[in-house]
Parts: sequence; C-alpha cells; structure tokens
Amino acid sequence: MKALIYLGPGKKELEERPMPAIAAATDAIVRITKTTICGTDLHILKGDVPTCAAGRILGHEGVGTVEKTGPSVTAFRPGDRVLVSCISACGKCEYCRCAMYSHCTTGGWILGNTIDGTQAEYVRIPHADTSLHRIPAGADEEALTMLSDILPTAFECGVLNGKVQPGSTVAIVGAGPIGLAALLTAQFYSPAELIAIDLDDNRLDVARGFGATAVVNAAGGNAADQVMKLTDGRGVDTAIEAVGVPATFVLCEDIVAPGGTIANVGVHGVKADLHLERLWSQNITITTRLVDTVTTPMLLKTVQSRKLDPKRLITNRFKLDRILDAYDTFGRAASTQALKVIIEA
Ligand SMILES: NC(=O)c1ccc[n+]([C@@H]2O[C@H](COP(=O)([O-])OP(=O)(O)OC[C@H]3O[C@@H](n4cnc5c(N)ncnc54)[C@H](O)[C@@H]3O)[C@@H](O)[C@H]2O)c1
Ligand SMILES: [Zn+2]
Ligand SMILES: [Zn+2]
Repeated sequence: MKALIYLGPGKKELEERPMPAIAAATDAIVRITKTTICGTDLHILKGDVPTCAAGRILGHEGVGTVEKTGPSVTAFRPGDRVLVSCISACGKCEYCRCAMYSHCTTGGWILGNTIDGTQAEYVRIPHADTSLHRIPAGADEEALTMLSDILPTAFECGVLNGKVQPGSTVAIVGAGPIGLAALLTAQFYSPAELIAIDLDDNRLDVARGFGATAVVNAAGGNAADQVMKLTDGRGVDTAIEAVGVPATFVLCEDIVAPGGTIANVGVHGVKADLHLERLWSQNITITTRLVDTVTTPMLLKTVQSRKLDPKRLITNRFKLDRILDAYDTFGRAASTQALKVIIEA
C-alpha cells in the first residue's frame, strides 16, 4: 500500500509499505477513504515531537471502512463505515474510566506518533471498540474528517475548558483551523462577543464569515490595547490560546477580565511568562488539556442535524498520490490561503 513516511526532521516521502496486520485481539484494520493533515504533522516534520521516530507513517485523522477485526472486537464488523479518533482509548484504565482518554495508559495520542497513522491506504486501529465511531447513514464523510481531531480539540480544550457562556465575551487568539473550529463551536453557547485575533488578514476575513463579531490583526503589536478598547476596558471572560507561542499566551494574560478563564489549546515548545505579579488578585483560571475526544459522539450529532458545518474548514482536495503537494499547500497557508486539505486514498 502507499503511505506517507516521516524520514526525520524536514524529510518525508510517499512510499510503498506492507499492509498492516492485526497485532492484538482488540485491533481493527481500517481502509482509509479520506484523511487530512494537521498542524501537529508539521510540528513532527520540524523535529518538535521526539516520540515520533523516523520511518513512521504520519496522520491521526480520517474516515474509512473496517476491513478486518480482531477476535475481541464486538462493536464493529468488516464493511462498517467509521470515523477514526486521533486519540486511542482502552476504555478500562484509570484515565479512561474518568473519560481522560488522552492519557490512556495503552493509548492516547499514538496514531501517527508512536504507531503508524492514517496517511496511508490502510491503518491498524488499537482498542477499536472504543477508538472508532460508526458513521451514520447518509453522513458527509468529508465533513466528518474534521471530527477526528480539530473539532473536539477546539471544543474541549477551548470552549468547554474556557467556560464560554451565553452573553459572555470571548477572544480567540489564532484563527487557524483550530481557532476557527473554536469560533464555530463557541456559538453553541451564544456568547455576546467573539473576537478573533491573528496576523493573517485572510484568516481574519474567514473568521468574520464564521461569526466573529470583531477581528484584530496582532501584527502591529497592540492587540491587547485593541481588545481592551473593544471591551470598554474590561477584557474578555474567555481567552482561548490557539497558536502555541509565548507571545500569544501572554496576550491572553493581558486581555483576560477579572474572574475570566484562559483556555490554552496551543502546543508549546518553549516556556511562556506567567505574570502572577498582576494576575494573583484577578480571580482567573488557567486551563490546559490534550484533547480527549469525549465529545466526538455529541459533535457527530450536531453535524448530522446541521447545527455545525465543519466542511467550511476544507479548502483543498488531493489524491493520495499527490500528498506531497497537499503538504506543500498546507505548509504554505499564508500564501495558499489553505485551511484543511482533504486527501483521498
Ligand atoms: N491541545 C491539543 O490537544 C491540541 C490538538 C491539536 C492541535 N493543537 C495545537 O493547536 C494550535 C493551533 O492549531 P492550528 O492547526 O490551528 O495551527 P495553525 O498554525 O494553522 O494556526 C495558528 C494561527 O496562529 C496565527 N498566529 C501565529 N502567531 C501569532 C501571533 N503572534 N498572534 C496572533 N496570531 C498568531 C497564525 O497566523 C495562524 O493563523 C497548534 O499549536 C497545534 O499544535 C493542540
Ligand atoms: Zn492533530
Ligand atoms: Zn485507557
């Protein structure tokens, strides 16, 4: 089968690989029909993710058809259409029993990281019963590809942790696919103000189209002042950090209102300053989270009932043969205006 292989920092290739085989009784083999590329795949290619070794098939998102199941798999049969979760969960360990699947002792984020992933014709899914989701008849599979990772990430780490409420004021720092997915799912709760902040005017235009009530270009270095002006000097009840650099975390500290919440989503590679000399008296909450994907079944229902349209995040489509072009387009988002790219196997 064809698969996209990580060959060490800066290097990747589309190569021929043997088909994956069932390794444990709880495994399933899924034939991938559609997959996509995540910002985290770009982090891996930069060499930022030491757990991912050279030779690994990348990808932790996708939809497909069950090809084979191990003898202990009871929830799925060959031929079933399934959504792959970016997080694998055994359902039995201490963390899984409290719905913290991201920290499953034999799962978590392993796909396309410590085991081979979804950017291939076939993938082996461990703990298949509790790591796959059945695709409802008639569902739009392209739209559901967005539910493997970015929608639950934005919703769980950003919107839920950020305690977005009716009438509240929310700032989303970073209008990439995750920030935009937070913008879409924050609207479940009818916040009064939704301020999108980015350096890229194209993404800010998209954010407006997705429901931002105001946008701020942070390039001038005065984003905090602009947000304070927009909020009559009060700041925001929820500041969602969806970039992953020190400057944007500090921006969240600068704009959070008394009693507010900073919900960090971004993957940080270096330390960021925590200004406790100002924040100690402000009654704020800071949250961090690795996506658990516990809300995926709920999000699936909102897509089915058309309350949520994740297809709006898809800008480009490629065949698996052209996945290197897909990486190039996704990697140069500022000039190509790409958000999410679909790769059809
Ligand atoms: N916590 C989790 O479980 C989890 C899961 C998946 C992804 N992530 C992380 O979420 C983050 C966002 O993902 P994405 O795919 O949307 O990334 P992305 O790189 O596509 O988007 C980031 C956006 O931030 C903007 N930006 C960069 N510097 C900025 C600054 N100084 N001020 C304002 N905006 C700035 C960029 O223009 C871009 O639009 C990444 O760090 C990613 O690794 C976290
Ligand atoms: Zn991802
Ligand atoms: Zn577990």
